[in-house]
Amino acid sequence: MDSPFIYGKIAENEFFIDREQETKQLLCNFKGLVNTTIISPRRWGKTSLVNKTLEMLVKEKGCYAARIDIFNCRTEEQFYKTYVNAVLQASTSKLEEWVALMKKHIGSVGPKISVGEGSQSYEVTFGFNFKEVQYSEDEILDLPQRIAEEKGKKFIICIDEFQNVGNFADSLAFQRKLRSHWQLHNSVCYCLYGSKRHMLLDIFGNYEMPFYKFGDLMFLDKIAEADWIPYITRQFKKTGKVISNDLAAKIVRKVDKHPYYVQQLSHQVWLRTDKTCMAEIVEVAHENIIDQMRLLFSNLLDSLTLKQINFLHAVVDGVENFSSNTTLTQYELGTSANIKNLRNALLQRDLIDVLPGGKTEIQDPIFAAWLKQQVV
Ligand SMILES: Nc1ncnc2c1ncn2[C@@H]1O[C@H](COP(=O)(O)OP(=O)(O)O)[C@@H](O)[C@H]1O
Ligand SMILES: [Mg+2]
Repeated sequence: MDSPFIYGKIAENEFFIDREQETKQLLCNFKGLVNTTIISPRRWGKTSLVNKTLEMLVKEKGCYAARIDIFNCRTEEQFYKTYVNAVLQASTSKLEEWVALMKKHIGSVGPKISVGEGSQSYEVTFGFNFKEVQYSEDEILDLPQRIAEEKGKKFIICIDEFQNVGNFADSLAFQRKLRSHWQLHNSVCYCLYGSKRHMLLDIFGNYEMPFYKFGDLMFLDKIAEADWIPYITRQFKKTGKVISNDLAAKIVRKVDKHPYYVQQLSHQVWLRTDKTCMAEIVEVAHENIIDQMRLLFSNLLDSLTLKQINFLHAVVDGVENFSSNTTLTQYELGTSANIKNLRNALLQRDLIDVLPGGKTEIQDPIFAAWLKQQVV
């Protein structure tokens, strides 16, 4: 029997819940061509949210939408290649038209088009050197605007894992270039999203940076318990199994509403449930997920300093004032002058998150549960 839960993939159809407010706002921004940046830790549902919104948008005529994942782009050159291909893909599925758009808008330097063997897809290639791409940069960046103008449509460009541009050589110059083009586009809307909060905040929230005040900033939240409970019970029921609201709530609390882990833990509980779920099953399934991660977590700790590890333990214990003498002594954190560095180092590694209200949290609830089991 197929699992009624999904994780590690885009949540769609029956697996996609909640997010009414967010899809509504995002759809509204897309239609009104308002640029939007979405920030949340990994696996909270950004990709699924944008995907869902684009699905809703497709029903509207008059819009092209390209979803571009730059997770694997290490250089500007790779970015441009991925970009031009995604934009063309979103604009047409006909080879002749593809060629025509290329010729018209990126023409002179002669990028080549290759047709995937036996497939319906085409790909633009640029030969072997970066020069060709460099000559075409401006045209590539303006491509969605040109196509939108030509066809009398709007273009929605969604770029996933956008924080990666922060790793490009001379990233600042690149960001300036993007911004200088994009701000002139009046038929295109950009939705930029990614997971590294500190990197993205640096790109979008720092007034010295080119992308400062680029558009709406959306901090995606986790999904509320009240939305998870009916989902979990419904998915059990669909497959002829039963789970009480209380136990569904227990699943959600065990992983602190974290979307990926709620789905994973629900799946593990569902697997172990014959007919009716019992409290012990939730415990065992939770422990099993921690087990799967044990080796990874201990390797992770090996890469940290003792004080960083102590700091993590303090976070797990719910400490709020890290600079107080009691905390500094109890967790052997050194002097209060250390705290900022410790916090920053762990933020850089995406191990902790400082919430807008100032509270510090371990990002991964399974890592937090594992840490709790370790004796200091
Ligand atoms: N709206 C949602 N409803 C149900 N589950 C979700 C939802 N959004 C995310 N998830 C769960 O979280 C996982 C990660 O979602 P994803 O969109 O890839 O997150 P991100 O892009 O932020 O890393 C999904 O595989 C799914 O298990
Ligand atoms: Mg994603």
